[in-house]
This record gives sequence, structure tokens and C-alpha cells, in this order.
Amino acid sequence: MPCGEGEPAGVAAACGGEMINRGGRYERILRQLQGLIVGASPTLIAAMATVSAVLHAKMPHHSWTGFYFVAGEDELHVGPYQGPAACQVLKGQGVCLHAVRTRAAVVVPDVAAFPGHIACDSRSRSEIALPLVKDGRVVAVLDVDSNEPAQFSAADVAPLERIVALLLPFC
Ligand code: SME
Repeated sequence: MPCGEGEPAGVAAACGGEMINRGGRYERILRQLQGLIVGASPTLIAAMATVSAVLHAKMPHHSWTGFYFVAGEDELHVGPYQGPAACQVLKGQGVCLHAVRTRAAVVVPDVAAFPGHIACDSRSRSEIALPLVKDGRVVAVLDVDSNEPAQFSAADVAPLERIVALLLPFC
């Protein structure tokens, strides 16, 4: 049974001590990524590829971990990622575009309940998307899918924002 089943969506990822473990994991991932990226990655793409690889490998609930680049008013293009082959272009709707438009993290405990959700992989059940914002402009979005429902909550936002912030010097 997935963590958080039958609980309000906002606390879904915090049950059973799982979030405590996840918090520690985020800390270790952040430190590892600092070592790998800061002063070492030659480009934004290289840094994004490293973030995707480490997050995806270290977080068992992730089924897809990666980036979409803003490519015009209403369009996103896929960037570095890990997981099943993804939609190459997202247009006009979806969780990622919502994160771009609002310039804020979007937590989706149930993708079926999100109007306009784009299902690149029909197995995906929950999702979180965070914008990479440089000088007020959204450059890209970090997107994470899980094949289990209710795998993300507000508690995931701050640690993932710190990870996304590692990319700012490359923008
Ligand atoms: N579900 C996303 C599309 C990207 S995939 O999840 C990799 C969305 O609605 O924007």
C-alpha cells in the first residue's frame, strides 16, 4: 500500500517516518551534487544531467526525473532526464507549464485530478514540478513522476528547490 493512502494529500508523504528518511536523503543528495557540480560542471546541460542521474538513482519512489526547457510562450522542450522515454514537446497545458506560468512549485498527489495533466507515461500517478527561475525569468522546470500515488507533498518543495538552485550559476 502506498504511503499516505487514505490520508489528506498534503500529509501523504509525511507518514510512517518516511519523510524523515527522505529529508536525510535530500541532505545527502544535495551534498553529493555540490561536490559533483560546483566548479566542475562545464555547462547547464551537464549539471542538469548530473542532478537527474543522482536524484533518480537515490530516490526509489521516482519513476521519471528530469528537466524541460522553456521554449517560447506556451511550449517546453525536454532536457536531460532519467527514466522512460519522455514527451519531447509539451504545449499549452500540463503540470510543467503550470509551474512555469505560476513560477512556483506544483505538487500533484493524483495526476488524474490535475486538469490538463500530460501523461507521457500512463503509469505515472503523482508528480512534482519546480521552476528554475533566473532574474525573474523561468529557464526550465525540474519534473519528477512517481508510479505510486501521493508520493509528493509540500515537504518535498524546499529540499528540491535547494537542489534546483545549484543550477543558477550555469544559467
Ligand atoms: N506530466 C507532465 C509531462 C512531463 S512527464 O511527466 C515526463 C506535465 O503534465 O507537464
